[in-house]
Amino acid sequence: MSLLEVRNLSTRFKLIDHTVRAVDGISFSVEHNETLAIVGESGCGKSVTAMSLMNLIQAPGEIDSSSEIIFEGKNVLEMNDSELKELRGGKIAMIFQEPSASFNPLFRIGSQIAEALKIHQGAAKDEALVQAEKLLDSVKISEPDRRVKNYPFQLSGGMLQRAMTALAISCSPKLLLADEPTTALDVTIQAQIIKLLQDEASEKNMSIIFVTHDLELIDGFADRIMLLYAGRVFEQSTAPEFFDNPLHPYGEDLMNAIPRMGLFKDEHKLYTIKGQVPDEKSKPIGCAYAPRCRKCFDKCVNEEPPLFSVNSRNVRCWLFENKNLSTDGEDK
Ligand SMILES: Nc1ncnc2c1ncn2[C@@H]1O[C@H](COP(=O)(O)OP(=O)(O)OP(=O)(O)O)[C@@H](O)[C@H]1O
Ligand SMILES: [Mg+2]
Repeated sequence: MSLLEVRNLSTRFKLIDHTVRAVDGISFSVEHNETLAIVGESGCGKSVTAMSLMNLIQAPGEIDSSSEIIFEGKNVLEMNDSELKELRGGKIAMIFQEPSASFNPLFRIGSQIAEALKIHQGAAKDEALVQAEKLLDSVKISEPDRRVKNYPFQLSGGMLQRAMTALAISCSPKLLLADEPTTALDVTIQAQIIKLLQDEASEKNMSIIFVTHDLELIDGFADRIMLLYAGRVFEQSTAPEFFDNPLHPYGEDLMNAIPRMGLFKDEHKLYTIKGQVPDEKSKPIGCAYAPRCRKCFDKCVNEEPPLFSVNSRNVRCWLFENKNLSTDGEDK
């Protein structure tokens, strides 16, 4: 059994004059000790997906009743308050993109990490504070003995991001949801945090869902890739397959936009993707990527492609219609 099985997840925001389909029928799984990277440009639905997994969507947001999020055999969307309290920060922990979602500005960093250790691990107060200091040290925060006594506003953005990582791994979760956990960090520290997460994952048999727009960061770190666009799954592949040969033109374009990785790697030219991710009101009737796609043809403009299975990979692109072995996922 997979650690996490997500079926047909749809999350909508009902606004006054229209509804935003932020996540639109996505299905995926995460195995034990596996790292899944969720990638895509800004506004694709990465954070809403991660928040939905913890059942943290608030009004005007709503998770569709047909969605299923099965964690260790139980549907998170059907859990009661006490089950959710045990789950969040205990079995599933999250590093939020927005630091204010993790830390209360009124309490010291150390006491907030210690509190999590008390609740989820039953640690005594003094022991929990010592442990909090060790955790700050492990995420490369200098002078951890001083920093445990700081309030969140006394830490820089990068330090706060690392403190959130410390808080998230403090209770040895089975699944870590890391939403852009290294964006505010220098590249050297980024690499150290990735290494820390890798070590933590293999030592404690932890799975990771790593949300990022930075493909370079996950090359060599992620096991599998889920490419999102406009709230839909565009490709699901193992990381080596994806980096070797992305199937969807969108994935290919994202790689081309990285000088070291793309089509023009020998010429060191920078490729740019024209246009931007459509908002709800400008979503095309056909493929959402069609207006920006170099390989777009008539059918792409008029009809939305289903998710095609190509060998053991999934891709939502009409180019793969005749290579299709079966349609999969939410379109069944
Ligand atoms: N509270 C909200 N109310 C209305 N729309 C929302 C809300 N939260 C998210 N959305 C919309 O849902 C879509 C997906 O947002 P999401 O935050 O998941 O994007 P993202 O992929 O995480 O982007 P980024 O890389 O910028 O963090 C966007 O169109 C966003 O505007
Ligand atoms: Mg986000």
